[in-house]
Amino acid sequence: MFFDRIEAAPADPILGLTDAFRKDPNPNKINLGVGVYKTEEGVTPVLDCVKAAEKKILDEETTKSYLPITGLPEFGEITRNMIFGEGSELANSGRAVTCHCPGGTGALRIGADFIKQQNVATTVWISDPTWANHYQIATNAGLKFERYPYYDRATHGLAFDRMMETLSQAKEGDVVLLHACCHNPTGIDPTVEQWEKIADFLATKKLLPFIDFAYQGFGHGLEEDAQGVRIIASRCKEMLIASSYSKNLGLYNERVGALTILCADKDTAQKVNSQLKIAVRTAISNPPAHGEKIVVSVLSDKDLRAKWESELTAMRERIRQMRVLLCEKLQEYGAGDFSFITEQNGMFSFSGLSKEQVEKLKTEHGIYIVGSGRICVAAITKANVDTLAKCIAKVVKAQ
Ligand code: LMR
Repeated sequence: MFFDRIEAAPADPILGLTDAFRKDPNPNKINLGVGVYKTEEGVTPVLDCVKAAEKKILDEETTKSYLPITGLPEFGEITRNMIFGEGSELANSGRAVTCHCPGGTGALRIGADFIKQQNVATTVWISDPTWANHYQIATNAGLKFERYPYYDRATHGLAFDRMMETLSQAKEGDVVLLHACCHNPTGIDPTVEQWEKIADFLATKKLLPFIDFAYQGFGHGLEEDAQGVRIIASRCKEMLIASSYSKNLGLYNERVGALTILCADKDTAQKVNSQLKIAVRTAISNPPAHGEKIVVSVLSDKDLRAKWESELTAMRERIRQMRVLLCEKLQEYGAGDFSFITEQNGMFSFSGLSKEQVEKLKTEHGIYIVGSGRICVAAITKANVDTLAKCIAKVVKAQ
């Protein structure tokens, strides 16, 4: 027997909730687990700009032959412009190389594999809390991880001093994983001033930044959300960035992410690129084309890009409105002061609800949120906010 000693793994803390939600017969159930945007109608839409690009692709596509191992060159160019700024010196410097990976997760994993395979580092510092998958990606890639504190429960803000104090224990050459914006799960991001301190610290301590950039455009805007990455890139000569088009273009199941590696010079970038190709070749061979072509079509066409930006703004603003509405309703139903929710960025709200309260919401009310108390605000609508607030108030008052 080969497999009889294998133990059952726990369900995924985020995607496992979607499975459980699907099976729940409760007609009033609400899924606020996974980070997926919903319209007021409760639908995860295909953006109009994406539909238009897909029509064009279908008409013009002449082959399904393989893409280059790291994806189309124009995809890399577009991604570097998104990260470092349109037409910026860094985007055009030749110091950064990009490869298309399957989603932000794929980019994190290919990046972690690259770090391990090339003996770049052995230890990665990860925020506590973080997106649950970070820890297991590092572990499965063969890296060790340490945690640094991030969230201050008392102030509902960034535990900046404690974070820096803990990170000062990192050894030269360690990797520090940071969320570029819309920190998942807390929604709390460093200020510009704090980013500058972080960047100076990373450069002085000779630590390697690895940035998870999954939510560009969901915080304050495409440019605003890139500030942290750009500040770090202005101080640190080398870094990795795992970015994603899953959320901002709504391309979740097309799996379009990118790993960008910034190097000290062009020559090194070419060598890194050659090794990156091996990391990709041995993991996925070469990337799927459809989503990548959508990104290229939308972002390289003036009209489609303008359409995209307005659709992205609409998503961001609807989420902000839902934050305000949820706070008002929670107050109205006597759950207490949740005004901190309006200060958080991105798709999620770190509600402060305990594991027990989260469990009660699920079993007694069919409301699914992540065990850490993370609520996907992007799935709240005017139609479900009332039920949600009433149920939260009930479990809060029952304590
Ligand atoms: C999330 O945090 O809900 C998203 O990033 C989806 C995922 O893959 O977990």
